[in-house]
Amino acid sequence: MKVFGTAAAKIILFGEHAVVYGHPAIAVPVSTIRAAASVDLSHPSHSTRLQVFAQDVDRWVSLDESQEDGLSASIRRAISLLGFEPSGMAAAIHSDIPLASGLGSGAALTAALVRAVTLANSQYMSNETLNAIVYETERIHHGTPSGIDNTVIVYEKPIYFRRGHDLEPIRSAAPLMLLIGDTGISAPTKESVADVRRLYEDHPLEIESVLNQIGQIAEMSRALIESGDLLQLGRNMTDNHHLLQELTVSSHSLDRLVNAALAAGALGAKLSGGGRGGNMIALVEPTTKRAVSDSLLDAGAVRVIQTTVT
Ligand code: MEV
Repeated sequence: MKVFGTAAAKIILFGEHAVVYGHPAIAVPVSTIRAAASVDLSHPSHSTRLQVFAQDVDRWVSLDESQEDGLSASIRRAISLLGFEPSGMAAAIHSDIPLASGLGSGAALTAALVRAVTLANSQYMSNETLNAIVYETERIHHGTPSGIDNTVIVYEKPIYFRRGHDLEPIRSAAPLMLLIGDTGISAPTKESVADVRRLYEDHPLEIESVLNQIGQIAEMSRALIESGDLLQLGRNMTDNHHLLQELTVSSHSLDRLVNAALAAGALGAKLSGGGRGGNMIALVEPTTKRAVSDSLLDAGAVRVIQTTVT
């Protein structure tokens, strides 16, 4: 019998990169974009390979031999942390989440698979255990992940997050209508995180100051979300983007989309996630949503997705 496990994508509203250095950050799930894994332990044609279909990707991952790339390594790591012998398992993962785009594809693929394997074995797993397993696999993708991506994806709720602390769920006083604009350029988070680390080592005082300012914006924005002050929240997003530019993690494509969103009336806009490519987000109102979406597409976004945080 085939069983399924799923997990949502995520976006970071405030604080990416600074969160790696212990500053607060805010992330929300995007429940309409998901990874779904199917597992069948009684399939007649047993396989030790697993097929992954993500946006523009259709590939096999070997479960019993060494395949060098991060996705294969993290899936094997998850299976081995489960203490499960995969031979004889027929499995596939279908995902709407583009890879290496700042939407948490790696963490969502692994979370969906672990959920399906656990169910196929008639076992129960707490979110806490699942989060710890997905964090371990994130280390293969990123090297030094803060843990925010796996946490928001596993718990699937808006969170205020500080590395090494328990997550704090947050509630928005007013719906946050967001557009997610995709540059279509894949950019591994591991590289941008490593570049920020080098920049920090070369210019510790300047970068420390930028990271502190990002942390302060995230802290202040939590209160704005909880009080429903969307105007100031939008300004904070744009300020956060400028600080991310100082960390060198933006790009021409991201800046073009951010500027296009602002020119079309967005309350604020910023890159989201590791940067360099991937996705940006814009805070919009019902009256500006259409114009901002059209403007993002005109400025080169390959897709625009709407999500509302409540
Ligand atoms: C990636 O979604 C967020 C980063 O801050 C990395 C991390 O927190 O591990 C860039």
